[in-house]
Amino acid sequence: MKADIGVTGLAVMGANLARNFARNGYTVALHNRSRARTDALVAEHGNEGTFIPTETLTQLVENLAVPRRVLIMVKAGQPVDDVIDQLVPMLAPGDIVIDAGNSHYEDTRRREAALAAKDLHFVGIGVSGGEEGALNGPAIMPGGPKESYEALGPLLEDISAHYEGDPCCAWIGTDGAGHFVKMVHNGIEYADMQVIGEAYDLLRSVGGIEPADQAGIFRSWNSTDLASYLIEITAEVLGHVDAQTGKPLVDVIVDQAGQKGTGRWTAISGLDLGSPIGAIAESVFARSLSSQSEIRATAQQMLAAGTGSVPAPQDADRDAFVEDVRLALYASKLVSYAQGLDMLTAAAAEYGWSLDLGTIASLWRDGCIIRADLLDVIMKAFGGRDTSRHPEPGTTAEGQPSNLLFAPEFRDAIAAALPAWRRVVATAVAAGVPVPVFSSALSYYDGLRRDRLPAALTQGLRDYFGAHTYRRADREGTFHTLWSGDRSEIEA
Ligand SMILES: NC(=O)c1ccc[n+]([C@@H]2O[C@H](COP(=O)([O-])OP(=O)(O)OC[C@H]3O[C@@H](n4cnc5c(N)ncnc54)[C@H](OP(=O)(O)O)[C@@H]3O)[C@@H](O)[C@H]2O)c1
Repeated sequence: MKADIGVTGLAVMGANLARNFARNGYTVALHNRSRARTDALVAEHGNEGTFIPTETLTQLVENLAVPRRVLIMVKAGQPVDDVIDQLVPMLAPGDIVIDAGNSHYEDTRRREAALAAKDLHFVGIGVSGGEEGALNGPAIMPGGPKESYEALGPLLEDISAHYEGDPCCAWIGTDGAGHFVKMVHNGIEYADMQVIGEAYDLLRSVGGIEPADQAGIFRSWNSTDLASYLIEITAEVLGHVDAQTGKPLVDVIVDQAGQKGTGRWTAISGLDLGSPIGAIAESVFARSLSSQSEIRATAQQMLAAGTGSVPAPQDADRDAFVEDVRLALYASKLVSYAQGLDMLTAAAAEYGWSLDLGTIASLWRDGCIIRADLLDVIMKAFGGRDTSRHPEPGTTAEGQPSNLLFAPEFRDAIAAALPAWRRVVATAVAAGVPVPVFSSALSYYDGLRRDRLPAALTQGLRDYFGAHTYRRADREGTFHTLWSGDRSEIEA
């Protein structure tokens, strides 16, 4: 008996994916650098399906049906290259090497090109949903050559999460497209969590609402257009009381946010692509600032607040304030999605990917951390799933909005939220509560819709100190003013 797929790297993610394949009826060959993880998996979960434990990579490959499908789930970085280097001599043209870890998309592009030169398929897939998702159904974003999806796609779709019958898995685009889209998913996730944090801070610092009561508020928000996994678990965390102290858990957790790097990668890529993803970048910076414990401690002693008094809203005003914050959260969240999707469009142009935003939004509807009712609306705004990436019928991607905020439903929703959004940002500024994503998202919105931007002055300054030239609004051409001469204008 040959296995349908081999998995090498059986730490928590690899083991859970292997079990997920087996539970879906696939025969799974197992390998791990050190044998103990393989044995533990078979001992604890061997009854969940058909596993073929192996001792070496050679044995793993020997036990695979053709075309061989080998899924690598080892530590990201050099270990992935090490495993690929060992595998390549054992494989034959048409075989598929899959990297399902959190690899950087540039590494995936490099690896794909190297393996294509040997007639091997290399497929980088983004997997979201954490440990639980890997076991029970993650969102899966596969890149690599499209033809590889014929042999691999059905397996991945079977183990993925499903939203109303649609698998949260579809071919994304060539080479590193899958890992790129997963990276942007994580960038959006950072922004999603930051706007929740800003709402919590405002409700508490300005609204005077304690965590236990906020849990109820977030729970009720989960029945609105904010309905999402992250809002749901915010209610859980805010409602949790620390057993040792009897305080809300959120009050005993050190207020320094960690990060593993995918948000930072998104911000860096946004800068490289010239993509204005301020809300996402601000959410990364907010985590960095939170972690600067020493400088924060000094700042608390040295820096003035300069805030006026912002009275806590009472009774009916309090309900209105809570609703304002909810609308500001929703609008800021929409902007961070708009920025992330806009960045995907920029990347598609840069790397020659044909990314379908409707399909991508559809994959995030379940299984992943940013899963939200909103994503179904976003998918529909972009014309649904592209059927060529998925066997089920759907609609074509024609007539997509060039920015998510231009889709009629979102344009109207933001218009309705705007007065509240502006009030909330103004209140936060007056109260000295930092709201980097609420405010940056609002500035992005205003920047987009503004008739004239001060960029004209920036161009004038650049021309003054560096003869960088400028274009005129009233006629074609490129111009320079002779600033240190008679200040006449010449055509450059
Ligand atoms: N999508 C998600 O939600 C999510 C969540 C967590 C992690 N991840 C990603 O998934 C991947 C796996 O994560 P993980 O937490 O399960 O495992 P991990 O801790 O990142 O890596 C441990 C695994 O890598 C193996 N390994 C390390 N160096 C190796 C080398 N040079 N050669 C061969 N094997 C090597 C280890 O083998 P030994 O047992 O022999 O040490 C072990 O199986 C990573 O890319 C991670 O970033 C994704």
